[in-house]
Amino acid sequence: MPHSHNPIEDKDLLALAVRVARQAGEMLLNRPLAFDISTKTSALDFATQMDKASEHLIVDALLEARPLDGIVGEEGASCPSTSGITWVIDPIDGTVNYLYALPGWNISIGARDENGPLIGVVYAPTVNSIWTAIRNGGAFFNGLPISCNDPVTLERALIGTGFEYDVEKRIEQSRVVAQLLPLIRDLRRMGSAAVDLCYVAMGAFDGFYESGLKEWDSAAGGLIAIEAGAVLTTNEAGITVCAGPSLHPALSKAVLQ
Ligand code: IPD
Ligand code: CA
Repeated sequence: MPHSHNPIEDKDLLALAVRVARQAGEMLLNRPLAFDISTKTSALDFATQMDKASEHLIVDALLEARPLDGIVGEEGASCPSTSGITWVIDPIDGTVNYLYALPGWNISIGARDENGPLIGVVYAPTVNSIWTAIRNGGAFFNGLPISCNDPVTLERALIGTGFEYDVEKRIEQSRVVAQLLPLIRDLRRMGSAAVDLCYVAMGAFDGFYESGLKEWDSAAGGLIAIEAGAVLTTNEAGITVCAGPSLHPALSKAVLQ
């Protein structure tokens, strides 16, 4: 069934996602005494018991409120939608930061309908930050409207990026870093794609790029960046580029492999 575009319902969806993200954040702030680490696609790619517990909490709460919605979760949660709404969840984006007790890890909850991304919530409790967006409704940081930096030239641009867990792909990614670094102001690797996109949205970064992102990495942060005025693209080679309209073409060209 197609989702009807009712602004009241969209606000309810956002309020639900905010409530659930805050609940998961509260649980995650209680760090376990010991981590139980399970590797995924490579030795570098892992999840902890907390990634799984966070996904359970989020999925249970969303389906309790909206049993007909679909779910796509990084840790494997998956169910089809009969309402037209599908939630796309990263229960901890920035798992390596979480493991090392570095700030910036977050809970990323997006919702999409037949027209694409509809709701985005990125909650990073260690930096007291919540970014939100509803499609065509603007982007917000802790309740205040935000917009990306524009115009910015490449040589003045502070750019965020991240790296894949696959070592072969990292070799390619390091070549791109080598070609890009001399062309820009500086580069940051903060450890969370969702927050990187939100940093573009609020002007804390001028741009961001990364190859090989998964849907849950960018579902919420991507909508927040777009609603803040940024351009977000992913090319055939799988390179995602996000920046204000004036910087986006030059950054896209500079990160071509
Ligand atoms: C990772 C982070 C990281 C990015 C990786 C993602 P995870 O997500 O967002 O910054 O470089 O590509 O996989 O594994 O911590 O959820
Ligand atoms: Ca994750």
